[in-house]
Amino acid sequence: MDRLQLAVFASGRGSNFSAILDKIKQGALDADVKLLVTNNKNAGAVKTALVHKIPFVFIKRSMFNNRQDFVEKMLMILKEHRITFIALAGYMKKIPSEVITEFKNKITNIHPALLPCFGGKGMYGHHVHEKVLESGCKVTGVTVHLVDDKYDHGPIVAQKCVEVKNDDTAKSLADSVLKVEHQIYSEVLQFFAENRVVIQGKVTKIR
Ligand code: GRF
Repeated sequence: MDRLQLAVFASGRGSNFSAILDKIKQGALDADVKLLVTNNKNAGAVKTALVHKIPFVFIKRSMFNNRQDFVEKMLMILKEHRITFIALAGYMKKIPSEVITEFKNKITNIHPALLPCFGGKGMYGHHVHEKVLESGCKVTGVTVHLVDDKYDHGPIVAQKCVEVKNDDTAKSLADSVLKVEHQIYSEVLQFFAENRVVIQGKVTKIR
């Protein structure tokens, strides 16, 4: 078993990033977070990285004259930090296809609903939970999936349900779902650390 040499990509609050760091500290996840990558200097995740003395890189497409330079720089950064696995945790940008190819089946994302429902472009944050409530679904949940070139689309690795209660609001639902996110993401990353994820097309199995 190899400890994952993780890069976490985050654009916002960073509570999943913190949860991953906590699980590593508790010995529940065999990984080292080598790097935080963000497109948002003001992200809460950056503050967490500073507290934990984890290197962070601020990089976004608009900092470069062309896409190629941006992608090359991103790949170079990941190589320099000897990253073996990428965990997206509230990262609001698409991952360049070259990075997906370089890290084939080694990039995961966490989504606050049960994919393939309530995913895709524009389905983030409160939008997801509002749509779940509007739909009348009695369960929602969390999905951890591999990343491919479409939003919220790659093979599903794990899901957990959360009940939608009569008096739930988008906010209360987000809170309940987030608690489960903090649990499940590290569990899934540990499956990868233990090399237990078998991927056959769209279907994954934990052996
Ligand atoms: C989470 O709900 C996650 O599922 C989604 O973005 C949110 C990020 O929250 N992809 P945080 O920044 O980890 O607190």
